[in-house]
Amino acid sequence: MGLKHSYTLIAPFYDLVVAKATHAIRKTSLQQIQQLSRHGDKILITGIGTGLDIPHLPADRFYTGIDLTPGMLNKAARRKGAVNITLQLGDAMNLPYEGASFDLIVMHLILAVVPDPQLALREAQRVVKTRGHILILDKFLKPGQLALLRRLANPITRHIATQTTVVFEHLLEECKSLAKVEDEPVLAGGWFRRIVLQKTKD
Ligand SMILES: C[S@@+](CC[C@H](N)C(=O)[O-])C[C@H]1O[C@@H](n2cnc3c(N)ncnc32)[C@H](O)[C@@H]1O
Repeated sequence: MGLKHSYTLIAPFYDLVVAKATHAIRKTSLQQIQQLSRHGDKILITGIGTGLDIPHLPADRFYTGIDLTPGMLNKAARRKGAVNITLQLGDAMNLPYEGASFDLIVMHLILAVVPDPQLALREAQRVVKTRGHILILDKFLKPGQLALLRRLANPITRHIATQTTVVFEHLLEECKSLAKVEDEPVLAGGWFRRIVLQKTKD
């Protein structure tokens, strides 16, 4: 079963399982938009899902939300409210945008989901402007961390919802234009981290 198929099945129940558990960390991550971007800036949200981020977005920016799964996007459309957001079907590993199109990118619970997280981060690096930021919220192992159960689960979970063994530091090694600005453990004993990156050069 592909991720698009499984997220179509997950869509009706997603908010029940995820909304409450992630509300506070999501809010903290998205508060950075006020500090790191300006009125009128263009902001991309990759893997926007059911749009749980939307209620936390400052209304005076222009947002694009992209996701692989129509069933998730349909739910996001109901959350638009006063936020100026365009929702599109598309692949985080092959973004349909020119280089340097966005001032800031939000990547909440998407890097550990896609089959090739390095490619997804490289795509974000490509489409964010120099000096722009990327806000990440996700579950990552530390380099060398054993995490036996997560390694045993990964061959199954990666096909139905998410990978459990992505090492963020390995992703970043591939993205020479991105520098880490913040990295904070936020949930589940530090498995979930809130990370801010900045594109420091072209
Ligand atoms: C765990 S959900 C996260 C949703 C949302 N970002 C959040 O924080 O609640 C993962 C989302 O990624 C989407 N997805 C999976 N593979 C994708 C891909 N290659 N490109 C874009 N979206 C993808 C799924 O459809 C799903 O909506």
